[in-house]
Amino acid sequence: MSTSDFFDNFFAADFWTAIKRRSFPTDQHSMFGDEETFKLVIERFRPSTIIEVGSWKGHSANFMADVCKRGGIQARILCIDTFLGAVEHWHLPDARPQLFRDFGRPTIFERFLGNTIARGNDGIIFPLTLDSTNAAALLTLWQVKADLIYVDAAHDAASVKADLTRFHPLLSDNGVMFGDDCQFEPLAGAVHAFAEDHNFHVFVSSRKWMLVTPGMIASLFAPSFAMRVSREGWVHP
Ligand SMILES: C[S@@+](CC[C@H](N)C(=O)[O-])C[C@H]1O[C@@H](n2cnc3c(N)ncnc32)[C@H](O)[C@@H]1O
Repeated sequence: MSTSDFFDNFFAADFWTAIKRRSFPTDQHSMFGDEETFKLVIERFRPSTIIEVGSWKGHSANFMADVCKRGGIQARILCIDTFLGAVEHWHLPDARPQLFRDFGRPTIFERFLGNTIARGNDGIIFPLTLDSTNAAALLTLWQVKADLIYVDAAHDAASVKADLTRFHPLLSDNGVMFGDDCQFEPLAGAVHAFAEDHNFHVFVSSRKWMLVTPGMIASLFAPSFAMRVSREGWVHP
């Protein structure tokens, strides 16, 4: 089993054709930001397979797909999400309406599909509608490897630690893992603890964190890219 076997088995050639026979809403609501970081990482690593853990309505995935298209990078982006939202989306009064619940069930997935079709990224983006634990187990069984893994699902420390632990082994040689929201101290703490245990440095750019080795920094990143080593403790610019 391999990455291409996985895509062939779970996403038939008419996967998007069948979806596009129906119409789905577009929805601009997002937590997406730090475009420059996404651009830099994708342009430097030129990934063939990207895994995104936590996609919401698809804005970060569609941005990554657009960067790939513009750069002539032939990538597939596997978007792992229950598409049911996380605790904060249900709990916070400002976020709750964004679930657009229908018969009690959020319609995040429908909006993810609508946004992806509207942006012309069907064929690049593929949704895997599982929780991250089951998704990681499935991808491990199928021996899927990704060149880039973006982690932006549950934000509590235990879940972040679990996502890093389960998804990091799926990185290809020279692959890189990065994620969102290191302004949250518990999340940053989980990232740093993982980095310590696995001998990585954490680099921080705005809200994004990235697990890197010193060699990667020297060879891959422009000096103009304002990142800082934050191994001794989390640092937010
Ligand atoms: C912050 S949002 C992702 C935002 C998205 N990356 C963007 O920038 O547009 C977090 C997403 O993670 C999903 N999520 C939370 N916990 C999850 C879990 N354990 N497994 C899968 N998805 C999860 C939620 O449903 C939600 O859509």
